[in-house]
Amino acid sequence: MATTANGPDLFSLSGKTILVAGGTRGIGQAISLRFARAGATVIANYLRNEQAAEDLKAIAAEEGLAISLCRADLSSERGLEQLDRSLQEWGPHLSGLVYCAATGIHRPIEELTDRHFDWTFSLNVRAFFKLIKLTKARFSKGSSIVAISSWGATRVLPYYSLVGSSKGALEALARHLAVELAPDGVRVNILTAGAVLTDAWKAMPNSEARIAETIRRTPAGRLVTAEEVAYGAQFLCSDAASGIVGHTLILDGGTGIMA
Ligand SMILES: NC(=O)c1ccc[n+]([C@@H]2O[C@H](COP(=O)([O-])OP(=O)(O)OC[C@H]3O[C@@H](n4cnc5c(N)ncnc54)[C@H](OP(=O)(O)O)[C@@H]3O)[C@@H](O)[C@H]2O)c1
Repeated sequence: MATTANGPDLFSLSGKTILVAGGTRGIGQAISLRFARAGATVIANYLRNEQAAEDLKAIAAEEGLAISLCRADLSSERGLEQLDRSLQEWGPHLSGLVYCAATGIHRPIEELTDRHFDWTFSLNVRAFFKLIKLTKARFSKGSSIVAISSWGATRVLPYYSLVGSSKGALEALARHLAVELAPDGVRVNILTAGAVLTDAWKAMPNSEARIAETIRRTPAGRLVTAEEVAYGAQFLCSDAASGIVGHTLILDGGTGIMA
């Protein structure tokens, strides 16, 4: 274990191998970098954006960080099998999983189809469920699983019915898993982020007006950053959070407390 002048550094991730699902872009990229800088060996999963994966690889090489890439579609059986094979190459154990991968269609209900529903839920909920089943035996005592969620799970946001309901399901699943896995020494928690400027906002209708409104409503007077969310995820995956189980950490600059 890493130490400080005052004793063991419980916030360090040294010696931990952590899978970041959706870990090459946006919030996931910030988490992969933060974790590796805190001493973890990181496996960053992604699907389509090779450029973002290459950029992360270049930063890791420059800083000497232990980040490996794993391209796999988590919403498909084939992708999960691929991920499983890759995990075997990296060793038998995992000490953490941060589930960042997400997708969604932002439209009013009359424009949403079954296909949109299946597309959104297959990654945002089912893939998390399948991933836990796939990796459960790899988690040793002291491991930590973090599901990244958003305010849409519990609040109504414009054109967010599909993503919001999928996040609600993700959170409920995470809480049930928290109870089921706690006896094995595996902690499951939720990290709810406020709005963070990432590519995801490009697909959001009226994004500029909504971001301005979020800033106006946020006591901190600004959006939170991906790096700030990453520090929250680091805490939840560190031994400093060993007593935190089934909790939702809200990291939003205070937006959520406003009436
Ligand atoms: N941005 C926000 O304001 C905000 C607020 C609250 C919560 N969140 C949550 O934070 C998480 C990250 O958000 P973000 O804004 O950083 O998202 P993002 O920039 O859209 O990144 C999504 C990540 O998921 C990966 N991904 C997409 N489909 C995948 C699949 N089928 N299999 C494996 N990986 C896949 C992407 O890989 P590729 O790069 O290869 O496409 C990418 O790494 C999400 O869970 C999101 O709901 C975001």
